[in-house]
Amino acid sequence: SVVNTAEEKMYRPNFHFTPKKGWMNDPNGMFYANGNYHLFYQYYPDGNKWGPMHWGHAISKDLIKWEEQPIAIYPDRDKYIFSGSAAVDVNNTSGLGTGKTAPIVAIYTLHDMTKEKENKIDVEQQDIAYSNDNGFTWQKFEEGNPVIKNPGIRDFRDPKMTWDETHKQWIMVLAAQDRSQFYKSKDLKNWEYLSDFGKNIGAHGGVWECPDFFEIKVKGTNETKWVLIQSLNPGGANGGSGTQYFIGDFDGKTFTQDNNFAQKVEKEKAVWIDYGKDNYAGVTWNNVPSADGRRLFIGWMSNWDYAQDVPTNTWRSATTIAREIELVKKGNDYNLISNPVKEINKYVSKTIKGKNLKGKGKLSIPEAEKVDLTKAIISFNVKNLKEDTYTFILSNPSGESLTFGINNTENHLFLDRSKSGKTDFSEKFASKISKAALEGSQKEGAFKIILDKTSIEIFYNNGERVLTEIFFSNQPFTSLSVSSNEGIEMSNIVLNQLNI
Ligand code: FRU
Repeated sequence: SVVNTAEEKMYRPNFHFTPKKGWMNDPNGMFYANGNYHLFYQYYPDGNKWGPMHWGHAISKDLIKWEEQPIAIYPDRDKYIFSGSAAVDVNNTSGLGTGKTAPIVAIYTLHDMTKEKENKIDVEQQDIAYSNDNGFTWQKFEEGNPVIKNPGIRDFRDPKMTWDETHKQWIMVLAAQDRSQFYKSKDLKNWEYLSDFGKNIGAHGGVWECPDFFEIKVKGTNETKWVLIQSLNPGGANGGSGTQYFIGDFDGKTFTQDNNFAQKVEKEKAVWIDYGKDNYAGVTWNNVPSADGRRLFIGWMSNWDYAQDVPTNTWRSATTIAREIELVKKGNDYNLISNPVKEINKYVSKTIKGKNLKGKGKLSIPEAEKVDLTKAIISFNVKNLKEDTYTFILSNPSGESLTFGINNTENHLFLDRSKSGKTDFSEKFASKISKAALEGSQKEGAFKIILDKTSIEIFYNNGERVLTEIFFSNQPFTSLSVSSNEGIEMSNIVLNQLNI
């Protein structure tokens, strides 16, 4: 195979996971077992566009450095292995274990391309596979599949199963066209339909895909709530693929939205986990040790609007940085916040503190020139903001720039990659600036930004708003500046170099 070294050098991310070669989309089947975080993903090894779907596999000790593994699950001719999840069956409820270690059971959608071509309805069903070596090799459960037959719904996929400790049952959520469906099981093999949620609620600009459903503690309290994560394509926050979420309660059968949150969903049409264009189909890890207690998330860092056209050839797509998700309550308002996992801090090799900055017009942050901005974490605070637009500009000597900031007249964050380099491979890539609405005018704000060769992940106010996007500059960005009419005050400027 030919390795395009120019492309490797320019566009292979420094620390976001990419398969060595081939096409990748959704993250699948993530769990923790025996010292390893496992990540599977929708994978086509023989081409750089979507094709016959396999489950690719990678592992990590720390959620940052990934090691690609042999392909985990292969399609059977025209029966593709679509998205799904995996659970560590600690008590061998499935009976699929052979003794030494807990079996791990994966559930995925089997998508029948022959039936699709014949325009049949029952194209998708749920099948399981299992592993008796902590997740490295897998057997399909031939004698028992499908575990859920197609009920006459064309889009019926992406099962996410989890142990529900409160109701002592396995539960599963899957996407059924325009709603999420809930199921329960005692043994991961026999599934009973419980209820559905979402018809006419939230965003419906496209088909619902890749849900996740889990109980989470409200930060700093003993109260728990249930979170339903629900991707859809198209109809995302800023076009194309996007991931919305809902907060509520679950009685073991039915999910009911929290009243206040339901009002927010009505008012805003949908509440999004990320307002950038490139965080799709994200779900969370199962079996994270309870002493750890974190809810860990990763997404596919692309968008169906252009994923198959981005200017890389050897591989296509990366995952987002792994994130910790927390539920924060202010008054009656619930907000799911996400932040990069703390493990990334281990890789900080150099920290440069920037001088506080105050002034009008365009100001440079000179310390940014001293770090390699293709592997860096930048953070800073802004204060005494006026009714103005505050634009941060990452730029390179070729005159390309990636800009982001706060529009304090229209009350939103924005991210603009229209001049960031290669954009013309798809009309949809840069035609629209991404925006994240803010509640009212900001007096102050805090930014944390993760930069890799082809991605920016902006965490605003401790992850209250997140914007994730990819870009393809023709040269790395080397400078950072800020521009405003009324003047800006920046403090706590920290530039962290990553050595990964
Ligand atoms: C989401 C998705 C899933 C499906 C998979 C196929 O990106 O369309 O619904 O299972 O990709 O690769």
